[in-house]
Amino acid sequence: MTRTILVTGGAGYIGSHTSVLLLQRGFDIVIADDLSNSSLRAVETIEVLGDRRVAFEEVDLTDQAAVAGVFDRHPIEGVIHFAGVKAVGESVQEPLRYYRTNLTSAMNLLDEMAAHEVWDLVFSSSATVYGDPEMLPIDESAPTRPTNPYGRTKLMIEDICRDVARADRRWRINLLRYFNPIGAHSSGDLGEDPRGIPNNLVPFVMQVAVGRRQQVEVFGNDWDTPDGTGVRDYIHVLDLAEGHLAALDHLETGCDELNLGTGHGASVFEVIKTTENVSGKAIPFEVVDRRAGDIACSLAEVSKANRRLDWRADRNLEVMLSDAWRWQSKHPEGYGD
Ligand code: UFG
Repeated sequence: MTRTILVTGGAGYIGSHTSVLLLQRGFDIVIADDLSNSSLRAVETIEVLGDRRVAFEEVDLTDQAAVAGVFDRHPIEGVIHFAGVKAVGESVQEPLRYYRTNLTSAMNLLDEMAAHEVWDLVFSSSATVYGDPEMLPIDESAPTRPTNPYGRTKLMIEDICRDVARADRRWRINLLRYFNPIGAHSSGDLGEDPRGIPNNLVPFVMQVAVGRRQQVEVFGNDWDTPDGTGVRDYIHVLDLAEGHLAALDHLETGCDELNLGTGHGASVFEVIKTTENVSGKAIPFEVVDRRAGDIACSLAEVSKANRRLDWRADRNLEVMLSDAWRWQSKHPEGYGD
């Protein structure tokens, strides 16, 4: 029998890529999304690429009755929870909105899952729970001390999940701590479409390459890294999406934390250079002051996920950036809404 999976935030960047793979793997999916930072066009594209229909529910997860309705209408057997607000800077400006949205949504979802006897959950956490790491690479036992409200919502939801799984042994939860997801679907028709000015490096670089912005601001070249610019563990969004399917296949009683990254780092300058190579466009940049709250380097220890999920991220930086460029050059204005 086909399993039905609820994908919250399924119209968003990582959720949409994961949804395509779920359809291709034969799952039925229900996407619950409030479209506050995503587009219905992504849902249409998911159906084209996945070659199947999706049940779409436009709901705000902070409304518990609305969440209950989704479970009443569909035979849901597992949940992948992506939905949430996720901009670091905004979370510092509007902490209450971040706590209310992310925590209330998670609690409503867990409540309704239990009420409907659904115990399988994969949660979208973040490497941001580690804050400024003491040691590299970062393994799952490293101290967690996020440096902003957004990161704290991720850690608090992790804590809630650990507590519910301790209280009731029917829960099977995997908490996935993503490093830096970039890239796009290889068709070039699904990708990241940030509203307003992109906060993150790769969407910004892509908008410069396509001519929507003048130049990249490099936030510091005096970091303690080989070329002085920040180093991150970038992971292809399709490798990450495959990690979610593996996480769903490898749920165990209780609650477990898993890093999803590649274990390899790339600097800001390497990202700019590689984008110039794959796009054939010049990327003008200017070095400016460090951004508040940034760290020099973030790198995942990935052996736990490799072993437990029988999964590995193997697309390299060139593939990540050429796929991001295919999406950006085919859809210069993103989904166009
Ligand atoms: N950077 C620039 N210029 C820009 C944007 C970024 O030089 O315009 C640099 C940053 O200083 C950093 C690197 O590019 O060295 C990557 O920055 P991103 O903003 O793309 O990614 P972060 O690692 O800062 O943030 C990401 C996620 C957050 C998450 C965080 C920690 O976007 O959601 O990782 O896990 F909280």
